Amino acid sequence: MKNLKTSIIILIFVLLIGGLGFIVVKNLNSDNKSNGVDSNIKNEEGKTGSTTLDSNKVLVIYFSETSNTQKLAKLISDKVGGDFIKIETIQKYPTNYQDLVDYAEEEKNKNARPELKELNIDLDKYDTIFVGYPIWWYQMPMAMYSFFDTYDFSGKTIVPFNTHEGSGVSGTNDDIKKLEPKANVLKSLAIRGGDMEENQIPTVEKWLNELGFGN
Ligand SMILES: Cc1cc2nc3c(=O)[nH]c(=O)nc-3n(C[C@H](O)[C@H](O)[C@H](O)COP(=O)(O)O)c2cc1C
Repeated sequence: MKNLKTSIIILIFVLLIGGLGFIVVKNLNSDNKSNGVDSNIKNEEGKTGSTTLDSNKVLVIYFSETSNTQKLAKLISDKVGGDFIKIETIQKYPTNYQDLVDYAEEEKNKNARPELKELNIDLDKYDTIFVGYPIWWYQMPMAMYSFFDTYDFSGKTIVPFNTHEGSGVSGTNDDIKKLEPKANVLKSLAIRGGDMEENQIPTVEKWLNELGFGN
């Protein structure tokens, strides 16, 4: 009974911290700060990696609005090699942060499937697909649902990674398992968006080692 009480208190505490982190960031960023990914962040196609994975069969694909996930995607891509692709919607998202937050909430409430720009992916080429996204309103952005609706990952290995401001993985690894029941979904890497200002290479290397991809 005492253990149950303690567990409930810890759970409430974790949820509060996660929620508060997001609200604080939401307010900090409500000063018309414009978002947008960094067009300088790219990787050469078919890059050779330095892990046990065959780079010819690796894809790192990500969705990012304010470039945190993009930075993480680049770090991962630098290690695992292969192709590097950005997921973009046809309809651009609002550049004002508060407008973006409101717009994304509406998309979530409508269970929308925003149309994506053509990605030209031939999934047959890949065995292992690293899929990255930010947490929006405690789940994946709806554009990621459009992405998983478009492609069938049966028989593929999906390696999710995400950035957030307190919510962590926020159940998204399980959501991907439900969306792609015939894929092998490995352990996620979740990093705070703000922490992408620091050197996250050791964190990425540790995670890749844990997944058995270390060299
Ligand atoms: C629309 C929107 C909703 C968000 N919702 C959450 C949330 O529910 N939980 C959380 O921890 N962070 C939330 N954040 C913060 C982002 O997950 C975080 O800043 C992330 O690093 C952004 O990634 P990006 O720069 O690649 O777009 C939200 C941000 C936006 C713009």
